[in-house]
Amino acid sequence: MALSKLPYKGTRDFFPPEMRQRDFLFNKMREIAELHSYEPYDGPMVEEVELYLAKSGEELINEQIYSFVDRGERKVAIRPEMTPTVARMVAQIHKEQSKPLRWYAIPNLMRYEKPQKGRLREHWQFNCDIFGAPEGLGEIEILQVATGLLRGFGATEEHFEVLLNDRRVVDAVFGQLLHLSSEQSHKLYKVIDKAKKVTAEALDKMIGEIIYQDTVKAHFKEYLKLDTFPALHSFLERHELKDAAGGFLPFTERLHASGLAKFVVYDPTIVRGLDYYTGVVFEIFDKSPDNRRAICGGGAYANLLQIFNEDPLPGVGFGLGDVTLADFLKTHGLLPTFEKPSISILVSYLDQAAEAHAFELSHSLRTLGVKTELYLGEAKPKKVFSHTERRGHRGVVMIGSNEIQTGEIEVKRIADQEKIRVKLNDPNSIKSFLE
Ligand code: HAM
Repeated sequence: MALSKLPYKGTRDFFPPEMRQRDFLFNKMREIAELHSYEPYDGPMVEEVELYLAKSGEELINEQIYSFVDRGERKVAIRPEMTPTVARMVAQIHKEQSKPLRWYAIPNLMRYEKPQKGRLREHWQFNCDIFGAPEGLGEIEILQVATGLLRGFGATEEHFEVLLNDRRVVDAVFGQLLHLSSEQSHKLYKVIDKAKKVTAEALDKMIGEIIYQDTVKAHFKEYLKLDTFPALHSFLERHELKDAAGGFLPFTERLHASGLAKFVVYDPTIVRGLDYYTGVVFEIFDKSPDNRRAICGGGAYANLLQIFNEDPLPGVGFGLGDVTLADFLKTHGLLPTFEKPSISILVSYLDQAAEAHAFELSHSLRTLGVKTELYLGEAKPKKVFSHTERRGHRGVVMIGSNEIQTGEIEVKRIADQEKIRVKLNDPNSIKSFLE
């Protein structure tokens, strides 16, 4: 039986056009991260499974992790997310570093998911994390970087929104207002996570399986209806939960000062499926009804370094997926096409005698930094032009016995069909004609 030519389910082959698109996305990620003074790092593809068992959350561990036992009997996993790795790396060196640490990476991650629009088994994820920032300020900066990336592609508040909540608020509501046990809280977290994906009846049923008293149910439903920061403030005041909500209220005031308020909406259903978050949590959503997906998710995690027996060092960060980002940009017409490579010029020759001249001209153009394709082998003009058309070169040159005799060549600019004659040994004029 012949082998399949297709890639493994839920993974992608990146042919040159896809690779050009990927480079375009990654270059912008690097540019925005570095503009905000984040430094690049990377880690290994595999980690010991235990690293994820400590704090990543049930769904990731039980349903999505790719794990295996290696030849030395160690249980290892292909990284499904980057946060445990970055925390492990920071735990090694943070004591000697001046704070805050600002790091970014674009790792590929594997999760055993049912492949569908916006969800694959392998994706690349732009991660930015800040460690050791003053309370509330790291959160603001991380939101600035995440929204800064989308804005860097030309997106505005018309295209996306940041749905935001705080684990401290949820814990205060569950513990002090609803008086739930930790087991009930745990279950209710999962229900909230699904609240927007199911019908009102299904939600009611799920809530009923965890909460029995009507007054408690009513309080929970009141919480689920909150959709603005003022509504949340008065809810917390009414139920005397303001203190328990910790630094969230001063944080929401900072949002206004930082210019982020126009992007941000309070959403009680944002709790995030990963166990390590302890404070502000958020997801960035496409506003288009055709693509209602989280492009990005993140939040604050105060205690992750403690799994390595380190002193607490608060972290805040986000992960933003390449698949969801490309879908978002496409939906809003913000993604250029990458069908053709961006090669400046095709140098070709009509007969054997011109070959050495073609080599020489190509070499001198490349020395000037002009991306040059040399057509390998003698070629008739018709063939050269159709090749230029297919590959999308900006200009073309053909060298034959006439050109060698006169020492002059004709350069054709494809976009406007304009031509100039230049000396065969004058690559500078070709360069400026094509720029
Ligand atoms: P996450 O919410 O699991 O967070 O993933 C972040 C983003 O990665 C999602 O919003 C989505 O865009 C993308 N993503 C996740 N899974 C897939 C998939 N199967 N296919 C395509 N895209 C996907 C985290 O991973 C956290 N570790 C982020 C973080 C960094 N928190 C703090 N620092």
